Order: sequence, then C-alpha cells, then structure tokens
Amino acid sequence: MSANSVVDGTVTWQSPSNIALVKYWGKHGRQLPSNPSISFTLCKAYTETEINFNFKEGRSENKYQFLFEGKENKTFGAKVKKFISSISDELPFLKNTDLIINSQNSFPHSSGIASSASSMSALVLCLLDIRNKITGTETIDLEKASHLSRLGSGSASRSVYGPLAIWGSNDAIKRADDTYAIPFDECDEIFRTFHDDILIVSASEKAVSSRAGHALMENNPYALNRFEQAHKHLAEIILALKSGDLEKFGEITEKEAFTLHALMMASTPPYMLMEPNTIEVINQIQNFRKEKNVPVYFTLDAGPNVHMLYPDKYSSEIEKLKESLVSLCAHGRIIEDIVGSGPTRLK
Ligand code: PMV
Repeated sequence: MSANSVVDGTVTWQSPSNIALVKYWGKHGRQLPSNPSISFTLCKAYTETEINFNFKEGRSENKYQFLFEGKENKTFGAKVKKFISSISDELPFLKNTDLIINSQNSFPHSSGIASSASSMSALVLCLLDIRNKITGTETIDLEKASHLSRLGSGSASRSVYGPLAIWGSNDAIKRADDTYAIPFDECDEIFRTFHDDILIVSASEKAVSSRAGHALMENNPYALNRFEQAHKHLAEIILALKSGDLEKFGEITEKEAFTLHALMMASTPPYMLMEPNTIEVINQIQNFRKEKNVPVYFTLDAGPNVHMLYPDKYSSEIEKLKESLVSLCAHGRIIEDIVGSGPTRLK
C-alpha cells in the first residue's frame, strides 16, 4: 500500500437487510456455513453508516467513537470495536486510523427485524471505502466486502449484492464459495418485482439468539440430513428462479421456513420461536393462496415474524389479505419491503 502520511474525510454507505429463502443454519470454523443459502436482498430495511476517519501513518494508538442514531452507544460500540480489531489483520490501515462511526437503521430499533446483516455490511463497505481513499483506489471490491461482512455476521455476506445472493459452496453454482457470497441475477423478471411484507407478530427480544441457535446445530440429530436437504433445495430453487416457476419457488421457500423452526424444536435443549399468531398468519396466507389462486408465500427468519412474499402484479389482491392480517401484528405493524439491488454509496 503506497499510503499518504495523513488522510482524512467522511464516507457514507447504505446497505440493506436480506431474507433467506434457503436458510443458513449451522456453522463451523471462523464463520463458515454448514450449508449453502440464497436470499432476496431487501430495499427499504437498511442501515446507513457514516464514518469520519483520520488516518495517520505511524500512529501508535487509535481512537474509536460509536454513535447509534446520533447518540453514543457503548454496548454497540464495544461490539464494533471487537469486530474491527478482529479484521485489522486484513485491513492493517485500521491500526493507524481514528474512527467516528455513526449508524442508523431505516426500521425502528427492536421492531423485530435483525439489523446485523445490514449494519455489518454497511460498516464494512465504509471501511473498504476508507482504504480506497488512503490508497487512491476507486472501485469497491465487493467480494472482499462480502468476505469481511461474513466475519461480522454470516448472513451479512449476502447483503452486498441484489437482487439475490448465494453464499456457500455447492454443486449447482460452481463459483459459489464458503468465504464470501456471490450475486445471483439470472432469475426470471417476476422475482425482481417481489414484495416482502414483514408482519411483526412480536418485536420482543428473542429467547434464543441466532448465535446460540447455530451452535445447537452441532448436536442436532437431524443436522447431516438437513445440510444435504439445503443443497437439494438450493439446486431446485435456482431452477425455479430461472424459469419463473412460482409454485416450486413457494414450495421450497415455505418448506425451508418450517424446517428452520423444526430444527430449533429438535435441538437440545429444544426451543420454539413461533408465537400463536405466527401460525395464524401462516394459515391465513396458505388459505388465501388456495381460495384465490394468488401466488403468495411465507418465510420465517429465526423469530416469530412472518415474511409474506408475492409478485408486484398481485399487490391489489393482497391488500385484502393484509387487512385481515394487520390485527395479528404487534401494534398493527407491517414493514412493507421489496426486492432491492444492493448497497449504495451516499455523498
Ligand atoms: O447471520 P446470522 O448469524 O444472524 O444467522 C442468520 C440465520 C438465519 O437468518 C435464520 C438464516 C439466514 O440464512 O439468514
């Protein structure tokens, strides 16, 4: 790196959340997935991160400040600091750079939407942008961004690209890798128009974190079958995405959601993150689909909230379903998102 002696400035990135269709559940080593996954990149649920930086060659000690929504946040700050030190072997300039990090989410804090994918990817994109400013480089290396985001949160590796991203080596897409995600855009146009209405059944903190959930897969008696099934589902959903086969897409997506939660219920100790209203929402979506012949499907994250997925051209029909689902949501909250094209550099 041919570095100037002092470089300072501000970088700002907006990076979205994503929702997995084939789920990553179980990991090993340094954040390596036990099976491949694929996700829709979202658009309206994002983190915006701004970093003021001051790089000085030979600095012996650097300072960090972390602000969340404009206010100093020591808990988040400690996590960010730990993450940044864990990647400073790959980004050595960090040891010589003071950072003031200011982050905010487009969705309310504790709204039941996990912010780790959007926040980690936004942070990493800012850090790579700072590296570019120090070295006088223009283009962001997205593969590197995905790789470093993965070290912060596995699913964050997929937020770097839209409309879909695949993470984890598999036979269907040979260039896919365990250490970073790759974009998948060979899908039929209909999938680019998909909505993801996030029905917030509960915004309370989860009883079992994703980190603990991944760890419980180590002794889950169904783990090996599950990992095999994920490979099969990925190959099948890729074909469905390419050919525009909505029915097959929905069949796999819903089976993946049920499987994720079945794995939780089959862990030792077993646990359940679905709430009664999760099941009621799922029943209503499935009944509406059958009765009205509308391609509307659901998926779940590691929590009680339901993601309702459907192509844009059915939006007006879905309004009626939403009217009935809103009473099952905490404070009537539905976050209306759509498939997006990935992060953007601001300013
Ligand atoms: O990225 P993590 O460690 O928060 O794990 C995410 C796990 C799921 O959201 C349940 C599935 C996925 O692939 O995103």
